[in-house]
Formats: sequence, C-alpha cells, structure tokens
Amino acid sequence: MPSTVLVGAQWGDEGKGKITDLIARDYDFVVRFQGGNNAGHTVIHGDKKLALHLMPSGVMYSDCTPVIGNGVVVDPGVLVKEMAMLQAEGISCDKLKISCDAHVIMPYHKDLDGADEKRLGSNQIGTTKRGIGPCYQDKMGRKGIRVQDLMDERVFRMKLEAVLAQKNPILEKIYGLHTYTVEEICEEYLPYARILKPFMAETAQLLNQARREGKSILFEGAQGTLLDIDHGTYPYVTSSSCCAGGACTGTGVGPKAMDRVLGIEKAYVTRVGGGPFPTELKFPEEGGVGQDAIDGETLCSVGHEFGVTTGRKRRCGWFDAVIGRYAAEVNGLTDVALTKLDVLSAFDTIKVCVAYECDGERYDYFPMQQSVLFHAKPVYVELPGWKGVDITGCTQYEQLPENARKYVEYLEEITGVPISIIAVGPDRDQTIFRG
Ligand code: GTP
Repeated sequence: MPSTVLVGAQWGDEGKGKITDLIARDYDFVVRFQGGNNAGHTVIHGDKKLALHLMPSGVMYSDCTPVIGNGVVVDPGVLVKEMAMLQAEGISCDKLKISCDAHVIMPYHKDLDGADEKRLGSNQIGTTKRGIGPCYQDKMGRKGIRVQDLMDERVFRMKLEAVLAQKNPILEKIYGLHTYTVEEICEEYLPYARILKPFMAETAQLLNQARREGKSILFEGAQGTLLDIDHGTYPYVTSSSCCAGGACTGTGVGPKAMDRVLGIEKAYVTRVGGGPFPTELKFPEEGGVGQDAIDGETLCSVGHEFGVTTGRKRRCGWFDAVIGRYAAEVNGLTDVALTKLDVLSAFDTIKVCVAYECDGERYDYFPMQQSVLFHAKPVYVELPGWKGVDITGCTQYEQLPENARKYVEYLEEITGVPISIIAVGPDRDQTIFRG
C-alpha cells in the first residue's frame, strides 16, 4: 500500500469519514496534518458510531500508529476526553504520537473566536468557535504555545506570562471579556500535560524513518480544498492548509513520499456557512424558486445534509466540474472517491456545471477574482438520471444502471481524474472499488 494523502475536494463534508474508515486499516501510520477539533469523522466500532474530532482514524486499528502532526492545533482538554472515551470503548490509544511542534489551543483562543464571529455580524465566516482560527493566528504571529512548551512548566509559565500581557488587554478592553492569570491556566493545562507527555514525539523523524523502512502512511485531511487558507474561497475558509501540500508542511514529510493523492468528492456539492457557491440551489426560505428550489430541497433531504453540530441545513447544489478541475490541479489528485451517488437516484435528470458565465465572459477555470465567483452563473449540461433505481446494494461497477455509469464517466472526462471508489450508501460495504 503506497503512502496516500486523502483530501476533501469541495467544501468539506464530502464523506471523508467513510472513505478514511474504509482504507485506514491498510496503513501502518495514519496522520492528521492540519485543523483541530473542528473536524468530525464518524467511525463505526462494532454496532456503535464513535465521533472522532482530533484523533486520527487509525486509532481504530491495533496495527496502526495514529499521529497528530505539527500542522494540527491541539486542544488538550478535548484530546484527553477523546482518549478517555475511546479507552472506555476498549480502544487503546497507547500508540498515539503527538508532534512536539503542534500548537496548543488556549482558553483565550476560544473566547476570541466566539467574540470575533459576533463582531462580524452578517459577514460571519461560520467558524466552529473552538479557538482554531485564533490559535493559527498566534502561530503565524509567532506567539503561539506549542505542545513541547507544555513539557516544561518553567517554559510554559514564562511564555504564558508574555502572551497574557498582550491578550488580557485585548480580551478586556476590546471585547469586554474575562481575563486570565498564569496560575488559572496552569491549573487547567498542567494536568493535561502530565497525561499527554508520554505521547509527545518528534513525529517528522518518526514518519521519515517509517518511510525508509517501507511502511505506509495515510495523511488524513480534514475540511476541503475550497476551505484551504491559500486555495479556498478566502476569507470564507478555515485557517489551515487542507490541500495536499499541507500534508508536507503539516508533518515534515517531503512531497516525494506522497505516492497517491485521493480526492473525496460528493456526487453533488454542499457548503456550510457564508461565501460564494455558484451551483447553489437556493432553498425557498433563502429566496429560491421553481425547480431549482425543489431540487435543492431534494438534495438536502435525501442526502441528509444537515450540520452535525448545528443541525442547520447545508447549502446544496449540482456537481461543479470547474471546482473539480481546480481541486485536481491544486492537490495533484491521482484519483477520486465519489460519494453519495445513491442520493442522485431521486432525480429525473441531473445537471453538471461545466463552466461559469459572468458579464458575458465564459470561465472554464476557477476565476481569478472572487467577485466573479459571487456573480457567476453556472453553464450546465443535463444528463439523464436513473430515477427510482435503488443503487444502494451495488458492489460492482457493472451493477450500476447505465445512466449512473455514464454520469461517473462524464465526471471523469470533464475533471480529468479517474474515479476509483464510488460510495452508494453510508455503510462500509456500500462501496464500489474500480480496477
Ligand atoms: P467530512 O470528514 O467533513 O467529510 O465529514 P463526514 O465524512 O462525516 O461527512 P458528513 O458530515 O457529510 O457525513 C457524511 C454522512 O454521509 C455520514 O453520515 C455518512 O455515513 C454518510 N455517507 C457517506 N457516504 C455516503 C454515501 O455514499 N451515501 C449516503 N447515502 N450516505 C453516505
């Protein structure tokens, strides 16, 4: 099994959880390289569904070493809780390795995240208010606290002292929030440090050594390409590098080690929070009318497209091949896992956006200016569907109805990337592996 980077190729929620869960067992190491506990994978353990927010999915397999890479931001309280939950389920976390260079989410990061969103009013980014953005800001501003700082109480206190001198006035004077003392943070964080210390490691060295020994690594991405801080629809993005390049910077493993880059794409598109979304089929309550509003509602209800934590409807739209081609390029995708194809069994015909039009100009590639993306009208090709045919039992490609195969092959042709895995239902065995 070669080393693989797995990334979301749209706006997240592509069903990465199911695909990661399916393939993670084949790898010696499973590594998270970006984000924090704003990722939510559901993994199946026996007859239970377990939610992993920070822990790499490899923890589920005893032969696999789960690694939290340097590019991740770690909320130690959340991690300790997650480890306790897994241990209570009989899942050992003994092999876990946490990079000493990963940054730590502090209590003031969480306060500032919530306060910042409130201040943005109707321009909210839709952050999860878990302190992830402010933690990355401090990392880039060179005032972050790293996992290794937790290992040495003297250093931890010294760094806290310096950072609180700067944070407290901001918390108090700008946001009217509670301030912190070094003592109260130490009281909360030092016990976490004692629990986590045995798991801290120089993970770049560990992973590079593993590569030399011929071991396989799965780099497990969270969020999605269009939420990437550099390549996404800025500023409606997350604060980390969710594209394949992030697997290098977020682990210290060079690009030559990445044999495969697997993009996860839903057979249609969804998005949570604000920002441009050219193929959006607006819901009636958002001003949507006619067939588009009906199709949007159908995608949402058949696909169960509701936020996991908020329960709010996700914005839904047809597959966007402009995004597909863009994701293929910025990640260097070798192949794609297409999820939720079964949801499209609800439609007579299925649209695919092949280009955008804006002010009389056609865009086959992602437009240079985001204002174009806001006003872009999709150019659609309409394909015949396979309405009413239940495909959720198909395990071989040939078992799919002809129009479903034509749809898959059209997406391959128009995005230029082979589709190697097709998911036709939420369960593990509702999956088609091709070739
Ligand atoms: P991300 O890591 O952000 O992609 O999260 P996720 O993988 O949990 O994705 P999401 O929150 O969108 O949840 C996907 C849901 O769809 C889960 O409940 C899955 O069990 C389910 N799911 C995954 N693949 C398929 C599929 O092919 N068909 C159907 N009907 N459901 C699926």
